[in-house]
Amino acid sequence: MAAVPPAIATLPTDLVALKPVNMVGLDALSTLFDITTASSADGTDPDFSAVADAPLADLVDEIEADGHGLVMCMGKGGVGKTTVAAAIAVELARRGHYVHLTTTVPAAHLADTLAGGLDHLEVSRIDPREASETYRDRVLASKGAGLDEAGRATLAEDLLSPCTEEVAVFQAFSKVIHESRRKFVVIDTAPTGHTLLLLDATGSYHREIARQMGDGGRFTTPLMRLQDPAQTKIVLVTLAETTPVLEAAGLQADLQRAGIAPWAWVVNNSLAAAKPTAPLLRQRAVAELEQIDTVREELADRYAVIPLSTSEPVGIEGLDLLTALHAKSLHIPVTQPAPR
Ligand SMILES: Nc1ncnc2c1ncn2[C@@H]1O[C@H](COP(=O)(O)OP(=O)(O)OP(=O)(O)O)[C@@H](O)[C@H]1O
Ligand SMILES: [Mg+2]
Repeated sequence: MAAVPPAIATLPTDLVALKPVNMVGLDALSTLFDITTASSADGTDPDFSAVADAPLADLVDEIEADGHGLVMCMGKGGVGKTTVAAAIAVELARRGHYVHLTTTVPAAHLADTLAGGLDHLEVSRIDPREASETYRDRVLASKGAGLDEAGRATLAEDLLSPCTEEVAVFQAFSKVIHESRRKFVVIDTAPTGHTLLLLDATGSYHREIARQMGDGGRFTTPLMRLQDPAQTKIVLVTLAETTPVLEAAGLQADLQRAGIAPWAWVVNNSLAAAKPTAPLLRQRAVAELEQIDTVREELADRYAVIPLSTSEPVGIEGLDLLTALHAKSLHIPVTQPAPR
């Protein structure tokens, strides 16, 4: 607020306080400009203990049990996909497993989130421009080799089309999916729309291969790996608020139409799980309980709740804390040979 540019600071300004309830519905909306205070003595003492009993570490236990596999964190913008992906990867690496943490976000800040390295943990990113260049070079070297100069020029021009980037990113994505046969691969995805496009490319490729191979052919496409619960665990990240939960449910329905069933939900930034004492925060925390119930009872096969943290959960230690907040035991790392 102190850094507001002068041109904006001179405009008339209204400050709207954080309300104890979500601004959904006519009753709530009609109070937006009222001055409200949270009542500290409403007589009830909400019980947040059930919420705090769904730690991320429990999900990591289940992921770990398979010894390898693909974990994909999905969800709308800003809900904590990168944070949750990094926390899962760090915990698996801490337990002595080889983990590849990668992102399909064009302007990724995975490095900022991790702020350091860890044994057994490889971090990369699928960069659309880099992937396109590699792909172009490869096609020019293979297909271009047999062409005359004019043919190569035409091919080079073809490869500048936007389709090239889509194909290139898809190929890089397929490669990390393939890797998850032998180790853990955790993917931090871009917000919903972008990810659905990538899955669409995966679906088109699958249909094309299926058409070429016919009924008798034996093949495994990346889509089939994503659809196989033994290989892929999709983690939907959301906040415990009406709109984010609805949007995550929409994403789940989209995925199900593509034959992909999300494995777990993670409710991030939960006030209820943070067990606040201030009246305003307690009242907001109570509002979360209904959303968390909906996730648990109607939407998710399994779920975890991560408390809102007082400081940004960045750095290996910050991420550790996020996972370990309710962890029941300490895990002693086991050293394994590197998978080929
Ligand atoms: N449980 C938490 N408590 C406090 N801060 C959190 C928590 N989880 C995430 N954050 C912070 O919230 C911000 C958004 O998180 P993150 O970058 O993981 O979201 P995202 O879903 O990956 O966002 P985008 O869609 O932009 O990629 C970050 O600054 C992160 O440190
Ligand atoms: Mg992110």
